[in-house]
Amino acid sequence: MVFDDIRRAVAKLESDIACGPIVPMVAAQEIRDHLASHYDFTKPLALDDAVADVERMLRMWQVQVTHPRYFGLFNPSVTLASIIGDTLVAMYNPQLATWRTSPAANEIERHTLAWLAGRLGFPPNAIASFTNGGAEANLSAVIVALTRSFPDYGERGLRALSASPTIYLTREAHHSFNKIAHMTGLGRRAIRTVATDRHLKMDVADLARRVAEDRKGGFAPFMVVGTVGTTAAGVIDPLPDLVRFCRSEELWLHVDAAWGGAAIISPRLRGHLADIDAADSITCDAHKWFSVPMAAGMFFCRHPDIVREAFCVETSYMPTRTAGPVFDPYTTSAQWSRRFIGLKLFLALAQRGESGYIEMIEHQARMGDVLRDALKRAGWRVVNTTPLPLVCFTRDGLVTAKFLSSLYQSQIAWMSEVRLGDDAPVVRACITSFRTTESDIEWVVREMGRLIS
Ligand SMILES: Cc1ncc(COP(=O)(O)O)c(C=O)c1O
Repeated sequence: MVFDDIRRAVAKLESDIACGPIVPMVAAQEIRDHLASHYDFTKPLALDDAVADVERMLRMWQVQVTHPRYFGLFNPSVTLASIIGDTLVAMYNPQLATWRTSPAANEIERHTLAWLAGRLGFPPNAIASFTNGGAEANLSAVIVALTRSFPDYGERGLRALSASPTIYLTREAHHSFNKIAHMTGLGRRAIRTVATDRHLKMDVADLARRVAEDRKGGFAPFMVVGTVGTTAAGVIDPLPDLVRFCRSEELWLHVDAAWGGAAIISPRLRGHLADIDAADSITCDAHKWFSVPMAAGMFFCRHPDIVREAFCVETSYMPTRTAGPVFDPYTTSAQWSRRFIGLKLFLALAQRGESGYIEMIEHQARMGDVLRDALKRAGWRVVNTTPLPLVCFTRDGLVTAKFLSSLYQSQIAWMSEVRLGDDAPVVRACITSFRTTESDIEWVVREMGRLIS
């Protein structure tokens, strides 16, 4: 059976990658020369040969994000079930724009999203959709929030509004919001950067001051974005305070939990996400801490009618609208043609069960603690505070870029550079693989010590 072949290939790849290099040492020209000399597309090639060559390129010429010592930007190791899920999707190629074309696929997605919506504490009538990623989910949130706050926005656009809408977030929030401000026509100046406290959490007093100032100045505040697991430092904004403030000011609260949202299923971690259930909308990516292949984001919203209003459309060339308790995803989300994104999460959950997922997530959280402790014992200074497995660190006199360059050259691990606030760059290491072990971490910290000695 074809899936036995995939299982074997995945197991072999997993062990090959774990024993091989993490960081490619290649210049663009080398790859371009190879492509130019082998692929002018004038005559057909044997598929086996082309596939073997592409695999060779992928082995040699990419950062191996599924390596247990890839401590990177939320790109996970992926489960076998999710790989099989993606393969099935490519084979059947279901079209999820409408319910009628793909009833099974639509219901599988609905079932999977309802499970997570329930864990996030959203009511049963909440609406959700799979997206290409967190950026698209955040875009959906801004469009829906604008639709609720400004009844004229849908038909007449932002230019019909009497006051300019403003969004509030910190400089630690994801920079997709800058693009979204541009794309929606809000303009980047609509973004208000709220101050943070010494742990880089949103300062709610500063938020209140800015909102009051903007109201006085004739602007129209409409949305606050809190982050659960900031990209740079894994910080969780003070959700209970944000909920209280947004309720009292009638502002839309969007929680960007693209990475950290998965912690909601962990009994050990979920307390840090208290009150996320009171958000108006949430972003949570399956292709981050739920360990499935890209692309798989999710958008959740507790206001189904506003989502329908934001994305409603009707045309004779689409199959007739389905009656009954179902909806056509092209009328409730930003996408039109839709890939069956949700199958990889559904199959992975089916295979591991929720308990298996809790184990994976809590294992990575524990490995974050192991890394923090090992670094401190070895004389490094940890500079961020988070219960999530993301550690930012440095030491006196360290030139981060130079250190990382030798880390890559020696294939010890992949980590990245980041600036927190106005401080000098530090090293950022995030546990993104459920395969990373305590001995991987201890070896890496020991080897880093050798590198700087
Ligand atoms: C907090 C946060 N939000 C949104 C995004 C964007 O997600 P994506 O890359 O899936 O579009 C990221 C990406 O790392 C993120 O860290």
